[in-house]
This record gives sequence, structure tokens and C-alpha cells, in this order.
Amino acid sequence: MKITSTMLVCVVLMMAKLCAVGDAQAAGCSQLPQRCSYIQEIECDGTTHSFSGSYHPTDADLTSLRYSITSYGNRNIVVSTCNTADFDTQLALFECSALVQVESAWNGTCGKYIRDSLYHNDDATGCDMTSKLMIRPIQIESGTYIIGVGAYSVGGDFNVTISC
Ligand SMILES: *[C@@H]1O[C@H](CO)[C@@H](O)[C@H](O)[C@H]1NC(C)=O
Ligand SMILES: *[C@@H]1O[C@H](CO)[C@@H](O)[C@H](O)[C@H]1NC(C)=O
Repeated sequence: MKITSTMLVCVVLMMAKLCAVGDAQAAGCSQLPQRCSYIQEIECDGTTHSFSGSYHPTDADLTSLRYSITSYGNRNIVVSTCNTADFDTQLALFECSALVQVESAWNGTCGKYIRDSLYHNDDATGCDMTSKLMIRPIQIESGTYIIGVGAYSVGGDFNVTISC
């Protein structure tokens, strides 16, 4: 059979399409229950993304799952409420595999305990009682992770920045 350039283009397009489907699946977190679909997806594009929110504890060390990132292992992941919250924050990063079962946290959000996290931070240096979570590429595999925001004792309002 004579291979024409049109056929080659088709093969390349088909492969590209298959790759795109593969990426979409790798970027997901199928372990997350349907009721956590409100979780905001943050693009790991090296820029700093800012969000604000509230959190009030319903149980000690229970964080509210708020954001998801898909890291390609090429940049630091930095999540910070450092001096931008009016309460004693806790930040945690969870692997998808830890999310098969979630608790009910404040305001109907999906919750997960700090002890089930891959990395967490309570009081960061220079941040008083607020937090900064910094993860280097060498510390983490490429994949999708979920970020939880919590409080040590009482809650309040926070501004959080995420870069990855
Ligand atoms: C969050 O940021 C807004 C806008 O800059 C600011 O008005 C607010 O006071 C900040 N909240 C906290 C808790 O730092
Ligand atoms: C509580 O949750 C609802 C949606 O479930 C949301 O619209 C609202 O903004 C949340 N309240 C706060 C203070 O985060």
C-alpha cells in the first residue's frame, strides 16, 4: 500500500487525539465523590492564583477541600495564607487515593483530616499563626492533588494564593 501524506496526517491527528484523552484522564481525580464537584481546578501555569473564602471548624484538624491542581513535577507548589487570614489556618495537600472517602465539613464542603494528607502546614515561619505549604518537584510525583484549608481552633476569612 502506498502511504500518502494525507494518511500520515490522519495517523498523526489520531495519535494526538488519543494523547489528549489520556491527559484528560491523568488530570482527573476519579476517586473524588460526585458531591465534591464544586472543587475549583487551578491551572499549574507558573502564575500565582488568588482566592478568598471562609472556613469554620466542625471537627479538630478537619480541612475543607477547596482546590485541585495537576502538577507535572517541573515547578514548586506553593500554597499560602501567610498573613492573609484572620484566623489560625492549616493547609494540606491530599493525594487522590486518599479521597475515596470524605467527611462533611463546614458549609457542606467535602472534608478530610490533616493526618490523611501527603503534606501539611500549620504555622509557617514569619507567618504568625497562618500557613505556607511549599513542595519541591523532587518531593512529589506528577499527578492531580487536592488542597484543603482548615483551622486550628476557630475559623474566619482567608485569602489564599496557589502557584504550581
Ligand atoms: C483579603 O483580600 C482583600 C482584598 O485585598 C482584603 O480586603 C481582605 O481584608 C483580605 N482578607 C484577609 C482576611 O486578609
Ligand atoms: C456556602 O456554600 C454555598 C454553596 O453551597 C456558597 O454559595 C456560599 O458562598 C458558601 N458560603 C461561604 C461563606 O463560603
